[in-house]
Amino acid sequence: MESIGFGIIGLGRIGAFHANSLQNAVSGAHLVAATVDPDHRRMLQDSGAAPCPLEEDVDSLLARRDVEAVVVASPAVAHAEHITLAAAAGKPIFSEKPLADSVPKAELAANAVLAAGVPFQIGFQRRYDRGYARARELIAAGAIGDVEMFRGMSCDRLGPIEFLRTSGGIFMDLASHDFDAARFLTGEEITEVFAVGAVLIEPELETFDDVDHAIVLLRFANGALGVVQESWRAPYGYDIRAEVHGNKGKVIAEVDEKYPTVLYDSRGKVSERHDQFVERFSDAYQAELQAFVDALHAGAPPTPGIEDALQTMRVAAAATTSRRENRWVSVSDA
Ligand SMILES: NC(=O)c1ccc[n+]([C@@H]2O[C@H](COP(=O)([O-])OP(=O)(O)OC[C@H]3O[C@@H](n4cnc5c(N)ncnc54)[C@H](O)[C@@H]3O)[C@@H](O)[C@H]2O)c1
Repeated sequence: MESIGFGIIGLGRIGAFHANSLQNAVSGAHLVAATVDPDHRRMLQDSGAAPCPLEEDVDSLLARRDVEAVVVASPAVAHAEHITLAAAAGKPIFSEKPLADSVPKAELAANAVLAAGVPFQIGFQRRYDRGYARARELIAAGAIGDVEMFRGMSCDRLGPIEFLRTSGGIFMDLASHDFDAARFLTGEEITEVFAVGAVLIEPELETFDDVDHAIVLLRFANGALGVVQESWRAPYGYDIRAEVHGNKGKVIAEVDEKYPTVLYDSRGKVSERHDQFVERFSDAYQAELQAFVDALHAGAPPTPGIEDALQTMRVAAAATTSRRENRWVSVSDA
């Protein structure tokens, strides 16, 4: 089967990881070119570190016939525009989360994808993590009975303030992974949220009404309850978990150790943790991209798709409103 040529929009932390996957790990695809902003392009060219041809802008990338599919890995604020352009060009799209930085922009992007009929996958890689995937299998097979409670947590390092300014905020950038995990693991829609937040690390976040710590209460369509806990502080290493309780048991996805090894010494019991998301989820990032490429070759719809992207976006927007207005917000109102 022919290899599919990919273009990448945005060659930053995650774009560079996807570029490497397309060059070295994903079968049935190859990297053709990437686009970055002017400053970044200059830096890459000067350092000789560009892993592929760098196109002038998104239009010229999309105009290439050998770019048959795209990865959108630009900042969240630009996702809707880049998805819309790629859809209009008829290119299948793998987009990093979140779908956009607001619901109206997310709806425009979704409409463009649906109108063009191009395959679309959103980058919620936890669905392709072995621990999360196995947890979902167990829950779907009835291993814990009826789902009654969800608990999700993400603790990560605070990124550069310029990244945070264009990220859509903690609920769209960080918590969206947990909202998607909640929907994926429980198989239930989140209907209502109540969010609180605090600025405990970076006062500059207040200038654009964001927070660095947050807790979100969730209500699910089947009556189950949930809580999601977010922090831009992880001094001991990247820390993410999910726990789902049912009337017959519970399942936990929590495989955070860097090595399956525990050291016992004068400090007691020591196990090393992953430092960054690219370490913790390297297999899942490659697996999600491989699944996208496989779906394109098979002519099957990739997953999670545009409806998942939009629904999780609405949950994140509802949490943002809830935190700002200090009230329960229905996801259908977001
Ligand atoms: N799935 C995950 O776990 C995960 C992890 C990290 C990042 N992400 C998501 O990926 C996206 C990018 O995050 P990042 O950490 O790589 O950010 P980053 O700042 O490191 O990289 C962004 C890249 O986009 C480029 N860029 C900026 N504006 C652009 C424009 N208008 N057109 C084209 N390119 C532009 C920048 O030059 C840079 O190369 C964000 O939406 C983020 O939420 C997802």
